[in-house]
Amino acid sequence: MTDRPVPPSTRHGRVAPLGSPLPASDVFHPDQIAVTANRFANQYLAAAARLGLEAAPTPEAARTWMISGHGRRLAVRAAVLGCNNPLAIRTAADKYLTHLRLACHDIAMPAYTCLHAGSRRQWDAAMAKACHWARDRYPVVVKSTTGSGAQNVHADIDDEEALSSALRALRVARVGRFLVESQQRGTLYRVTVFDGGVVRAFAKFPGAVIGDGRATIRELVRATGARRRACGLSPIPLGRQVVRHLQKRGLELQSVLPAGTRQTLTAEISGRLGCRREPVASDALPDAARALFRRAARASGLRWTGFDYFCEDITDPASAHLGTFIELNSAPTPNEFVPGMTRTDYLAVATTVLARYFGLDHAERVAT
Ligand SMILES: Nc1ncnc2c1ncn2[C@@H]1O[C@H](COP(=O)(O)OP(=O)(O)O)[C@@H](O)[C@H]1O
Ligand SMILES: [Mg+2]
Repeated sequence: MTDRPVPPSTRHGRVAPLGSPLPASDVFHPDQIAVTANRFANQYLAAAARLGLEAAPTPEAARTWMISGHGRRLAVRAAVLGCNNPLAIRTAADKYLTHLRLACHDIAMPAYTCLHAGSRRQWDAAMAKACHWARDRYPVVVKSTTGSGAQNVHADIDDEEALSSALRALRVARVGRFLVESQQRGTLYRVTVFDGGVVRAFAKFPGAVIGDGRATIRELVRATGARRRACGLSPIPLGRQVVRHLQKRGLELQSVLPAGTRQTLTAEISGRLGCRREPVASDALPDAARALFRRAARASGLRWTGFDYFCEDITDPASAHLGTFIELNSAPTPNEFVPGMTRTDYLAVATTVLARYFGLDHAERVAT
């Protein structure tokens, strides 16, 4: 059953109430579990078997399996499943609302201003306000309040000219509301939390290519396409984010990198842009950081959430909990495109989540 082929996932799929056909609305049932990656959904079935739980396909809902045991039931669907409160999901989908919500709970986030623009006059006013706000705060990040995969996110903006150009790009993309944020330093981590417990953490670094003295940057990026497709990922888009990042370093897509030279492709860090991930061992996370993520998860109202969190070093007991939250995701998935990440790792994550959900005590033992 674990090898049953599952069709491609959608990030914002729909979830049926337990055991019933999929509803036409996009309302998430609050008692289901979030899984975005199809191969990962299969790991849930394997984990269920490992924990002695029953897993059976539901005749009513396509590509949905019901896992049951200990008087509880859980639907696992190939696309998106949600154990999250619908209102909390809506809040998490909006970065401005997320900031407001986290601020109410005293969770640290970057300094920011939120601006609206629609008409030409509003854009002129927003531009003036953005420049005024950013004056003493460069470098800043400009981003749409909605979206994912670093779409309509422009980082490393260090002067008024770059700010104007980023706002023009947002305007062309018809973004009506955006944040200007102070750019955080340190390492970016993705920390996935279920029911207050950290399930997995990894550091994320910008996508990069390594020169061979012959190929252009464009060719080097294209060469990563096949490897990414094999993992179900689309090729790294050679758009504005990459071109601007290279330009700032005196390079272009046609430049040939000397052999062995590593060149980052973007300032924004995202799986879509080929970021590199390094897992953090679960026993390396200090207690104070675990407590912080428990508190932040409670503040988010999400049972299953992935935080984008900046700090110097998440394994340092003195400072791991002093970082900044830039975003939270209501349907996180450990991406498959992690060198060294095996099926066993994914199985361990799925086992941890299921064990917590079904009140079993395997959780800590199997966490990776
Ligand atoms: N305040 C910030 N400081 C530093 N980098 C940021 C900031 N905001 C966004 N970024 C960069 O842009 C990327 C995408 O922004 P994010 O807010 O996580 O939106 P998305 O929903 O697209 O992931 C982040 O992974 C990070 O690399
Ligand atoms: Mg993010």
